[in-house]
Amino acid sequence: MGAGVIGSGIAQVTAQARYEVMVMDIEEEVLRRALGSIDKSLSKKVSKGSISEDKKQEILSHITTTTDINGAKSADLVIEAIPEVMELKVKAFKELDAICPKHTILASNTSSLPISAMASATKRQPKVVGIHFMNPVPVMKGVEIIAGRHTSNETLQTSKDFVRSLGKEPCEAVDYAGFIVSRILDAMMNEAFYCVMDGNKPEEVDRTIRTCCNFPMGPLELCDLAGADIVYQGLETMRKEFGDRLYPAPLLVSMVRAGDLGRKTGRGFYNYAKEA
Ligand code: CAA
Repeated sequence: MGAGVIGSGIAQVTAQARYEVMVMDIEEEVLRRALGSIDKSLSKKVSKGSISEDKKQEILSHITTTTDINGAKSADLVIEAIPEVMELKVKAFKELDAICPKHTILASNTSSLPISAMASATKRQPKVVGIHFMNPVPVMKGVEIIAGRHTSNETLQTSKDFVRSLGKEPCEAVDYAGFIVSRILDAMMNEAFYCVMDGNKPEEVDRTIRTCCNFPMGPLELCDLAGADIVYQGLETMRKEFGDRLYPAPLLVSMVRAGDLGRKTGRGFYNYAKEA
C-alpha cells in the first residue's frame, strides 16, 4: 500500500521471490510511475546479464495494481508504505483491519513511527508488525523487523521468514521512535547539517565520511537518497520522544568509569578478551 520509491522497491523484490503482489495507491499516475521504475530496474538487470528477458517478464507478471483498498481483501500480508503521517497510518490500518481476513498480517514500513500506535487502531494487535525496508530496496540486504507491544511471536517469526525468503536479512529492533536505523542515521545526518551550517562544504563533509570512515555514501548524499522530508519527519518524531540527546549517554559514562574502553582494554560493547 503506497507505490512511492520504497513501495515499488518492495513490490519488485517480493515479485522477484515469486509472490503474487498487488500494489495499491490512491493515484493511478503513481502506480504507472511505480511500474515504470520496476521495469527500468529489471531491464538494467537484463542488460547486465544477471536475468533473462523471459525472467523479467515472469517477475512483472506477478505484479498487479489497483486504486481500490478492497484489493487487500485476499492478501496474506499487507505492507503499508504510505507517507509518514500517523493519522494516515491509523486510518489505513483501521480500514485494512475491517476488510482483511483474520489471518492477514498488517505490516508498516514506517522508518520511525511506533508500531504499537498503529496496532492499537486495529482489533488484531498480535498480527501487526513493522517491516522496514532500506533504500534502495533491491540492493540493501538488511530489513528492520519491529514487534509492537502485543505482536505475537508467530507474527514476528513469519515476518522474519518472509524477509529471508526475499534473500534479505531480518534485523530486530525495539518499538521506540526511529528503531535502530533512523535513530542512528538521522542523528548522524543532523550533525552533518550543522557541519554545513558551520561553513563546511557539503562535498567535503561527504568525501570526509566516505574516505575517512569508509561509508559507501556521505551523510548529505544519504539524506538526498532517503529524502529530506523523511529525515525531517524522523528527527521530529525522535525529538518528541527523546528531547535533547547529545550529552554523553549514561551508558558511555558508566563504561568509561568502569574502564570498559573497547578493544584497547579487552572489553567495551563487545568482549575482546583472548580465550585462555
Ligand atoms: N535500484 C536498484 N539498484 C540500484 C539502485 C537503485 N535505486 N542504486 C544502485 N543500484 C545497484 C546498481 O545497479 C549496482 O548493481 P550491480 O552491482 O549489479 O552493478 C549496485 O547497486 C551498486 O550501485 P553503483 O555501482 O551505481 O553505486 P554504489 O556502489 O555507490 O552503490 C548504493 C550505491 C548501493 C546506494 C551505495 O552507495 C550504498 O549502499 N549507500 C548507502 C545506502 C543506505 O545507507 N541506505 C539506507 C538508507 S536509510 C533508509 O533507507 C531508511 C529510511 O527509512 C530512511
